[in-house]
Amino acid sequence: MTLDLDPGLLEAQLRELALEARAHRFEVAPNPCVGAGILSGGRLVARGFHEHWGGAHAELQALREADRLGIPLAERDALLVTLEPCSSFGKTPPCTEAVIEAGLRRVVVGATDPDPRHRGQGLERLRGAGVEVVELPTGSPLEQTSPHFLRWTSPARTRSRRPWVVAKWAQTMTGQLVPPPEVGEGRWISGPEALEEVQVLRSRVDAILTGSGTVLADDPRLTVRGPAAAGLTEGPGRVVLDTDLRTPPEAKLLRAPGPDERGGPLLFFARTDIDPVRARRLVEASEAPGIEVTTARMADRTHFDLRDVLERLWERGVRRLMVEAGPSLLQALFDAGLVDQVRIYTGSVRGGEGPTLGPWLAQARLEQRMDSEVGTMARLDAFVS
Ligand SMILES: NC(=O)c1ccc[n+]([C@@H]2O[C@H](COP(=O)([O-])OP(=O)(O)OC[C@H]3O[C@@H](n4cnc5c(N)ncnc54)[C@H](OP(=O)(O)O)[C@@H]3O)[C@@H](O)[C@H]2O)c1
Repeated sequence: MTLDLDPGLLEAQLRELALEARAHRFEVAPNPCVGAGILSGGRLVARGFHEHWGGAHAELQALREADRLGIPLAERDALLVTLEPCSSFGKTPPCTEAVIEAGLRRVVVGATDPDPRHRGQGLERLRGAGVEVVELPTGSPLEQTSPHFLRWTSPARTRSRRPWVVAKWAQTMTGQLVPPPEVGEGRWISGPEALEEVQVLRSRVDAILTGSGTVLADDPRLTVRGPAAAGLTEGPGRVVLDTDLRTPPEAKLLRAPGPDERGGPLLFFARTDIDPVRARRLVEASEAPGIEVTTARMADRTHFDLRDVLERLWERGVRRLMVEAGPSLLQALFDAGLVDQVRIYTGSVRGGEGPTLGPWLAQARLEQRMDSEVGTMARLDAFVS
């Protein structure tokens, strides 16, 4: 430890950054919550946070903020960061390189990367480039800042090779996912604010998964539209579990996305012995770029083995997946223990149709639960342990 830095003060500053970073936990997971700050004259003068999956890392955000505020390099005494900077290419370039390029001479780190494949490498890279690294292992322990990330990087989870699954649904006051026929054409529960938020959520996942029940009932497009689409080159992949390929050729999913709409490749899971003519007809009916019919192991005559489906999506590069499905697929995913995170919107709609996920919710172990309001709806975010 260099003597001109007060470890007690640094720890307090790291804790402060960690607390602020945690506010973004449901947007960044499975990534860890990370905060960073530029220290100048003993004060944090610029801060940055990893705010959402696929977004800029905290170190970069803090450096940008320091630039925006015009803080000269000579006055940047150190970069504080709650977690070891990454040193490999992921969704963004390595942060170690940004720190080195920015000319910072000292970095204070509150926790090391728990993943044995990366642990210590970022610190080594910085030291190798002549940056002084100060480690404060009790500064911002991951057990407090990001328990979800510890689970994600645990040996058991690393071996399972399946994406982080966010289950999102809207329900009525009775917990039903289908409103009464006279409300929202029997389909819509969500208000405009929640619908807009869902567009943002879609823009921050690698793919969206649904079941044939939803495609047949709702005819969704599963694309990103409105302001959330701006800046996206491609939308998330769209995945449908459709054992018998019942999706009709006129389904909106198959249409070419409009100019302000982003829709990624379409992937249909159908049974192995599906009639090839039926599959070809679906592919030929599609105007959407990139459509494929594939298969997965069946759990029984009509249902896919969902773990196998998820593993196949992982092989295709899907790391964060959102499920926008009806109660059948959601319940099956819960039963198989394959859901990591939930977002539930409850609207002020009375009654409804079909099953509820209430029994599952009543016994689920929800962690770090956050209740909030979006327009006229109640929103619940939580991790599932
Ligand atoms: N409130 C909301 O957030 C929300 C969201 C979406 C949908 N919905 C509503 O939900 C209703 C549809 O419900 P749903 O339960 O029929 O739709 P779903 O869960 O989206 O789709 C279920 C279908 O997926 C296929 N599937 C394949 N493997 C499966 C597996 N292992 N487990 C479960 N399903 C598997 C099965 O059809 P195949 O045998 O044909 O493959 C199954 O019937 C609609 O009324 C819609 O409006 C509500």
